[in-house]
Amino acid sequence: MGEITAVNTILGQGDPTPAEKLGYDHFMLKEIHEQPQALRDTMGMWLTGESVFLREIDFQSEKIRTLEKIFIIACGTSYHAGLVGREALEKLTGLPVEVDIASEFCYRDPIIPPNSLIIVISQSGTTTDTLVAMQGCLERGVKVIAITNAVNSTISKKAHCTLYTRAGSEIAIAATKSYVTQILALIILALHLGAVRKTIEEPQYRGLLKGLNALPHQVQQLLEQAGDIAELAQRYATHEHIFFIGRGLDYAVAREGALKLKEISYIHAEACAAGELKHGTLALVTQGVPIIALATQPHVLAKTLDNIRTAKERGARIIAVGTAQGRGLRELAHHLIEIPTTHPLLSPILTVLPLQLFAYYAAVKRGCDVDKPRNLTKSVMTE
Ligand code: G6P
Repeated sequence: MGEITAVNTILGQGDPTPAEKLGYDHFMLKEIHEQPQALRDTMGMWLTGESVFLREIDFQSEKIRTLEKIFIIACGTSYHAGLVGREALEKLTGLPVEVDIASEFCYRDPIIPPNSLIIVISQSGTTTDTLVAMQGCLERGVKVIAITNAVNSTISKKAHCTLYTRAGSEIAIAATKSYVTQILALIILALHLGAVRKTIEEPQYRGLLKGLNALPHQVQQLLEQAGDIAELAQRYATHEHIFFIGRGLDYAVAREGALKLKEISYIHAEACAAGELKHGTLALVTQGVPIIALATQPHVLAKTLDNIRTAKERGARIIAVGTAQGRGLRELAHHLIEIPTTHPLLSPILTVLPLQLFAYYAAVKRGCDVDKPRNLTKSVMTE
């Protein structure tokens, strides 16, 4: 990291004019629209044509091959990125992965095998809960990789090595472009570790690289639907409760969608694993309650459709997010937001876009201070 000298510098294309809205009404909207570029900038560092190259990971290959377990530790939206990254890491490295909320990890005395790898994720690189959890891991002598957007931040200085996302400066308190670049970093890390461990098949590796390269353009395509999503959000903005459901990676994204909506619009939003609806939350589903149903994962599509059908039968209004391959979804949904087709492991980077826009336009409609929601701060330096 010798060439990087600035203190807590944010890397990326937004840097020259970090405090300007550039014609957008809010920083959040500007940052949502900067996601294609943020993905390109982040990817550009690690994807070289036909392969992934992470020069930052300077552990010996033997160390990577003998890993036993991976832990991901983070807070807030970064934790949600970790939930998404877990799937890629498990599938591509063959290792078990645990994802922890930093403030819980510190005090539950987890069993950490000596050959573990710890990944801490923090947009700001200064979140105290994450730092405390990380310190505990360092004291046990395990390897720590940081994923952050801030160069020379405390977290990056303490970690053994750092993967810097190139999201550019993120002013709005609600994280958007940092989230998608964190997911990207985790997937690229999974590809790197999997290649060293020889746990990835060549066609899978090629397919994912192809999918990654197509993402910025696909995100751009989705942003073109912003007008339709704005209409939808305005229509449902008067509701006080909105539920998000999904299975697998869709559930991970549902959690981020619910967080985004509640933090900026103050609508009570709750994410529920689609299969869990019937175990409690269904009691709250009455006539007209909006449910944002994510259904992008082919291997659980049929089950998700069953769960959506059950909710609809209880009177829910279904706003579905799915792909053109999602047969049956269109018929069930009151509204369908179609996302471009990609590799299932990459779909969260697309699926979250309409949810960010929905939260943004609902908050604007409700007259909320979108960039500075009450009681929240961008970087939390207390436990
Ligand atoms: C605060 C912010 C969130 C963020 C969380 C973790 O709560 O409002 O947007 O996700 O901290 O921050 P970090 O900088 O560690 O990613």
